[in-house]
Amino acid sequence: MAREWWRDAVFYEIYVRSFADSDGDGVGDLAGITGRLPYLHELGVDAIWLTPFYPSPGVDHGYDVSDYVDVDPMFGTLDDFDALAAAAHQLGIRVIVDIVPNHTSDRHPWFTGDRSRYVTVPSANGVPNNWPSNWGGSAWTLDEERGHYYLHLFAPQQPDLDWHCSAVRSDFEDILRFWLDRGVDGFRIDVAHGLVKDATLADEPEPLPAVRLSSDWRRAIDQPEVHDVYRDWHRLAAAYPGDRVLVGEVVFSDPRRVAPYLRPDELHLAFNFSLVFQPWDADAIRDSIDASLAALPIVTWVLENHDVERIATRFGPREARAAALLLLALPGPVFLYEGQELGLPEVDLPDAARQDPIFHRTHGERVGRDGCRVPLPWTRDLPTRSWLPQPPGWGELSVEAQSSDGTSMLSLYRHAIALRPHGSFSWRDAPRGVLAFDRDGLTCVVNVSGDELPVGEVVLASEEIRTTLPAGAAAWIRA
Ligand code: BGC
Ligand code: MG
Repeated sequence: MAREWWRDAVFYEIYVRSFADSDGDGVGDLAGITGRLPYLHELGVDAIWLTPFYPSPGVDHGYDVSDYVDVDPMFGTLDDFDALAAAAHQLGIRVIVDIVPNHTSDRHPWFTGDRSRYVTVPSANGVPNNWPSNWGGSAWTLDEERGHYYLHLFAPQQPDLDWHCSAVRSDFEDILRFWLDRGVDGFRIDVAHGLVKDATLADEPEPLPAVRLSSDWRRAIDQPEVHDVYRDWHRLAAAYPGDRVLVGEVVFSDPRRVAPYLRPDELHLAFNFSLVFQPWDADAIRDSIDASLAALPIVTWVLENHDVERIATRFGPREARAAALLLLALPGPVFLYEGQELGLPEVDLPDAARQDPIFHRTHGERVGRDGCRVPLPWTRDLPTRSWLPQPPGWGELSVEAQSSDGTSMLSLYRHAIALRPHGSFSWRDAPRGVLAFDRDGLTCVVNVSGDELPVGEVVLASEEIRTTLPAGAAAWIRA
């Protein structure tokens, strides 16, 4: 059997609202993406992941879906989707879509209707348990009119479905088939570890602070029955030709808790967020790589997505370039987030511009995720409308400005994707503060914080170097 395409693919996440706007309303759309496919082709990515573009009231910008089998008019139509998928496939780019099975919008007909598909508890005995919402406050909202509490691990406008209910299971199988029949190459599964809740709704043993992405909860998520869902989905996807892929957002601080989701008959891939949480520190990065490789049958590599701070800000602009060479030399699939290839920084938006429910639900205590979602700059001259304001200087980071500059971050990504090494991975001895490993014929050296280091024949470097590699720089060397 041929090796599946996704085993070492470069995936590129498109946060649809913020990628490319074709109609000038300040919001990215499907036709905008189609128009920019040649850019993605030139960048060299193998697949795109589209964040939710389904009809949605937009409380969580599409992660509150009110119809799973249509396109929000703000983003286009089903015909636009078909045109996008066809054009991508023409260029050899696969398309995966985001499926949001943990919760719907509170405007979904299942919720405005009889709510039989949701986790609800009669209100007589008060708040059902101690589960917190990821975004502050209790996970339960009282609906006085209906006389019940309903569960929402996220915002109150995102009620959680009850995956112990068989209708939910069969509805989602129909939804998956709808998109597979339209030719999608797979799914990114939102909150994949969360669907099934403890059936008795028992308290979390240790009520933990509600912090997304380091969730160590035991009852509200990660129940054994969730694995049956993915076994069913695996079979369903396998009935289609072309290695359709299931990518789970399975968020635990310990990769050993992710491993069961990657059994051969379950998800094909899961995001490995361990690098997202590391500081720019050689030991921490090395340990996190080792822990991931030891725990997981296949490891994906991620530095950015639409939920976390940009690395040009987290690590620094030079370090972000070095991190790109680290990322693209590691063994296995890589997920890039739009704008990472431009070195976009996190934007410090004025409070009045912030839209993320995290900001509003925590009364500004957590700034939320708008800063990594500012629309991409395509041209030096910025458009007049943009759903989040583009800061001064944004045009200098644009695709137009970087395309013709051989030293730009964009050029670095283009070269790194084209020259990406394959083959087996092994660490090399390296001085303190330095990471070095071999992949077929190439050695990747990242000088995180060590002394200046002599290097041999440089194939690609994160900055112009002569014979030595300073701290904050990385290079691929002929082994
Ligand atoms: C998505 C977030 C979203 C949340 C609720 C996450 O995992 O990546 O952007 O807010 O799920 O759907
Ligand atoms: Mg638009």
